[in-house]
Parts: sequence; C-alpha cells; structure tokens
Amino acid sequence: MLQRLPAKMWTLCLQAALMATLARGSVSLRDNLVGRSQTSYNPSELSESKFLEYSNLSDKLHLREALGNIMIPRVVGSANHSIVRQYLVQSLRDLKWDVEVDSFHDHAPIMGKLHFHNIIARLNPKAERFLVLACHYDSKYMPGVEFLGATDSAVPCAMLLNLAYVLQDQLDSLKESKLSLMLLFFDGEEAFEEWGPKDSIYGARHLAKRWHHEGKLDSIDMLVLLDLLGAPDPAFYSFFENTESWYMRLQSVETRLAKFELLERYASSGIAQRDPTRYFQSQAMRSSFIEDDHIPFLRRNVPVLHLIPVPFPSVWHTPDDNESVIDYAATDNLALIIRLFTLEYLLGAK
Ligand SMILES: *[C@@H]1O[C@H](CO)[C@@H](O)[C@H](O)[C@H]1NC(C)=O
Ligand SMILES: *[C@@H]1O[C@H](CO)[C@@H](O)[C@H](O)[C@H]1NC(C)=O
Ligand SMILES: *[C@@H]1O[C@H](CO)[C@@H](O)[C@H](O)[C@H]1NC(C)=O
Ligand SMILES: [Zn+2]
Repeated sequence: MLQRLPAKMWTLCLQAALMATLARGSVSLRDNLVGRSQTSYNPSELSESKFLEYSNLSDKLHLREALGNIMIPRVVGSANHSIVRQYLVQSLRDLKWDVEVDSFHDHAPIMGKLHFHNIIARLNPKAERFLVLACHYDSKYMPGVEFLGATDSAVPCAMLLNLAYVLQDQLDSLKESKLSLMLLFFDGEEAFEEWGPKDSIYGARHLAKRWHHEGKLDSIDMLVLLDLLGAPDPAFYSFFENTESWYMRLQSVETRLAKFELLERYASSGIAQRDPTRYFQSQAMRSSFIEDDHIPFLRRNVPVLHLIPVPFPSVWHTPDDNESVIDYAATDNLALIIRLFTLEYLLGAK
C-alpha cells in the first residue's frame, strides 16, 4: 500500500492531520448503520460470561504454523504464489468454508500479462449480508531481494485463517444464517513498478467492479481490511465517520480485555502519539492519504474499517520485513481483539 508522504514526514503528518477525539455520546444508535443501503444494525455487547468464554479460545501454535506457510516470497505469477494460494484455499475448504477463486488477468508493468486470483471464502454462500474481513496475500516484487512481507501481509492473512480455525464451533451457525462471515484474500495489492491507479490493488479493483456489476456490493455490511500488522506497538485510528461506531466497538473490546488482564505484555515502547497503552486510539484521522485495497469499495460506498497502523511499521517495504520484526504478543492480542469483535458483530444480535 502507499503512503503519499515520505516516511519521515509521518510524525509531522500525524500532528497536522485532522484529528478529533472520539466522543461516545456523539455516536447515536442511528449511527450503527451498515451496508450501502444503510441498514440499521446494533448487536448487543457480549455478556461478561460470553466475553470470557470466547476470550479463552485461541491457538497460538496454529497462528504460527499458518504464518510459516504464508510467509514465503509470493509474487504474483510465481510458483510460490500458487503454493500459498492453494494452501489458503485448501485450509478453508478443510474447515468447510465455501471457497470461490476469482481468477482474471491483467497487464502489469515489467511483468506483462499476469493471472490474478482473489480468494473468497464464505460460511454461507447464500447469506443476504456479510461481515467481510480482508487482507492481501501477494508479496511485493523486489528484484534481487528475498522479500517475505511478514507484516505486509502474511501476519494479517494468518490471523484470518487462524480466526476461522479457532472459532470453527462458534461460527458454525453462520453456515445457515442470513448474516454471515466472508474472508477475502486479495491478490495483486502491490505495485510492480510504481504505485498508481493502474499499478496496484489489481485484485480489489477487479472484484469491486465485478460485484458492482453483479449487484453484490449491497450484501457487504462492512469491509474490515487488515494490513501491516505484526510489528510492535501498532496505533490505529478511526478513518471513516460512517464506521466510527464499529471502530469504537473495537476500542471497547480492547478496553474490556485490558480490564480482565487478558492482553499479553500489554505495554508500549511509546511510538504512539496519543495513548501509548492502547492500540485503538481515541482519535479520528480524517485524511485519506492511505491507499489500499479498500479504495475501490470505498468509492462505491461500501462501509470500510481500515485496520492499518499509523505510522506504518518502520520495516515497511524493506527486506527487513521478515519474521524478526514480528511481536507475537501484539500479534496475539490483536488477533484476539479481532476475533471478539467478529463474534460480537455476528452473534451479539438480538
Ligand atoms: C478460561 O480458561 C481458564 C484457564 O484455562 C479457566 O480457568 C477458566 O475457567 C476459563 N473461563 C471460561 C469462561 O471458560
Ligand atoms: C519459494 O519458497 C521457498 C520457501 O518455501 C523459498 O526457499 C524459495 O526461495 C522461494 N522461491 C522463490 C523463487 O522465491
Ligand atoms: C530478517 O531481516 C533481518 C534484518 O534485515 C536480517 O538480519 C535477518 O537475517 C532476516 N532474517 C530472516 C529469517 O530472513
Ligand atoms: Zn506493501
């Protein structure tokens, strides 16, 4: 993904960015709208017993195994890229997800004609509405360098696969329900030569356009896009006003977990500008300077939650983005927050 500003300007940018403190009172029930048709949806918070029961569900070993399978060089068109794709598809099919591979071709600088494959996994392919969790599984083409893209985006993809694995029993009812869960693994997020409208987010552009023509975008309640996760001390902000109440749910899950002391080594080295003891900052950042797979959906009015840290990990788009930067405590904590958010969204109804 792209930041339009040089890395060194992040601090300045953060200070100058249009930031406003989130105020609980400012979000009314009316704001819990989802989908392009603005359906009102307001699932209740998980009860304390459910919250604790679900918090107990984790499999850190599985997360590391999944990561090991994904974190190899996986440039679009390479043999390793197909290996990772097949691994994702097979793992989800083994967990009884309905998996569609959306294949298409496009032309890319340097590479020429390339075949791309988005992976779309649904618990109930016939559902009317979906919460969509997404990441990109391709890695950046860097000639002469073994680029592993640990945070970009092996960790986010491993988190999604791990969520499907860990919550298989809890999510089982969603194979029949009208509101269900979709996992989306985008292909071709990275640019090959230079980031631009025609050289980047190949998979997301293709899929948003296709679903637009097929009238399927209306079935997306919200696209939750994970990117650049795994490095220590991530700081997230609310980027979009129409999903702010959902962002605040993530915050409240984090606060609840912290209260029960269920977050591991929950401390910070202090890179966050505002509140270094939490990941989900109490600020909104309304400058859309981060381009990523959500853009073609956002432009078509799909509500988006973008879980990308600001600033980006310091190893972003360097050969150092490998296993040595992964902070497993932060990774497990984030994965837990996302699992609980997902369960609250899907099962907190009534
Ligand atoms: C969660 O796990 C802990 C440790 O295994 C156990 O003591 C506790 O009873 C569990 N809590 C729930 C709500 O399942
Ligand atoms: C493919 O992945 C393996 C690890 O499974 C790695 O050793 C190898 O270098 C990769 N090949 C390329 C061309 O990157
Ligand atoms: C990861 O990157 C660091 C810093 O560039 C390097 O020293 C280390 O050898 C790399 N480790 C692996 C497993 O590639
Ligand atoms: Zn990238």
